[in-house]
Amino acid sequence: MAVLVTGGAGYIGSHTCIELLNEGYEIIVLDNFTNSNPESLKRVEEITGKIFKTYEVDLLDKESVKEVFETNNIESVLHFAGLKAVGESVSLPLSYYQNNITGTVILCEIMQEYGVKNLVFSSSATVYGTPDKVPIKEDSKLGATNPYGRTKHMIEEILRDVAFSDPSWSIALLRYFNPIGAHVSGRIGEDPNGIPNNLMPYISQVAAGKRQQLQIFGNDYPTKDGTGVRDYIHVVDLAVGHLKALEKVQYTKGIDTFNLGTGIGYSVLEMVETFEQVSGRTVPYSITERRSGDISICYADPNKAREQLNWQATRGIEKMCEDTWRWQYHHPNGYDNKLNINNERTPVQHAAGFFNV
Ligand code: NAD
Ligand code: UFG
Repeated sequence: MAVLVTGGAGYIGSHTCIELLNEGYEIIVLDNFTNSNPESLKRVEEITGKIFKTYEVDLLDKESVKEVFETNNIESVLHFAGLKAVGESVSLPLSYYQNNITGTVILCEIMQEYGVKNLVFSSSATVYGTPDKVPIKEDSKLGATNPYGRTKHMIEEILRDVAFSDPSWSIALLRYFNPIGAHVSGRIGEDPNGIPNNLMPYISQVAAGKRQQLQIFGNDYPTKDGTGVRDYIHVVDLAVGHLKALEKVQYTKGIDTFNLGTGIGYSVLEMVETFEQVSGRTVPYSITERRSGDISICYADPNKAREQLNWQATRGIEKMCEDTWRWQYHHPNGYDNKLNINNERTPVQHAAGFFNV
């Protein structure tokens, strides 16, 4: 029996594949590589010493997804595949609704058809919108403020309807806070396309000398030092949280929601300071206008996951910065996607069990 990992080549998916393989799970990866590189999967094999099947398939291609279920004995699905850039979702809302929502509906239709009803879904703290109070509990009011966030909220609702329609489904909705860091080997990590949108990859590229300076979006928030506060969580802690959620969906029925965060908020300036200490580099910055749509402060109440999933983040902020820096230092160009003259990626060697349906 295998676990299907959609979006398994991406940042969080690839780290979760390592934890799954180390725990002895058989995995199958499905990804269209729209925002990832097959090299990440080759490295997952290298780190774990295990091989697995990978399907280069788009979730919107129903027949190909069906073929993956037809040819494999799938028991559970970890569903990471989706588009995730907030700004891009504002300019391309239909692509986000199509990819994230239709992709999930197709996946669930096929799961239903094949009697596979255990699902762990990658939701996001963005569904809380502007929180009334912190720490944020799972039953706080929801209200995403951008199309990306609304896809996550809508998918949560769709999955609730699915679970209520058929009690044999078992679904965990995981609301991640701000994943950062990388595998301790320094061999896999976050590999953003172009200019990073998120704080951590931006800081690490400035520290590496790839970008001149960080722009800090506002220092007049009602926070400890005026800069935005977030709950940063090590991607490996997040990956481990998925294994706990997987155990839950395999042994219980129904649908439930869990925050995956540390419960601690750090400001942008604290992140810069810690990164400088850990890397021994300076991170020049300037203060600019607030970024439209940003909230001042956001951190989780992670107690439900601790009590019900027996999961807790264990890696602190120094470790998050240290592991990010190791990956950045050794991979100034991410997975070495040197662009050729036509702006195309150079071909990469695929992982061992690579399938095109
Ligand atoms: P990522 O972009 O690195 O990984 C997503 C993967 O899904 C990529 O490999 C991409 O190629 C694949 N994919 C996208 N659309 C697909 C499709 N139609 N068919 C097949 N594959 C497809 O992103 P990530 O940071 O690893 O995030 C994983 C999930 O977690 C996403 O759903 C994201 O929305 C969610 N999430 C991420 C964050 C974050 O800050 N990274 C925070 C909260 C939630
Ligand atoms: N920031 C800067 N400069 C930058 C980038 C970010 O000052 O160049 C600040 C932001 O203003 C914010 C903090 O750093 O105060 C964190 O910003 P990120 O962009 O790293 O993260 P967000 O909290 O804005 O959003 C992220 C993901 C969302 C996800 C959310 C919650 O981008 O998709 O975390 O999980 F929904």
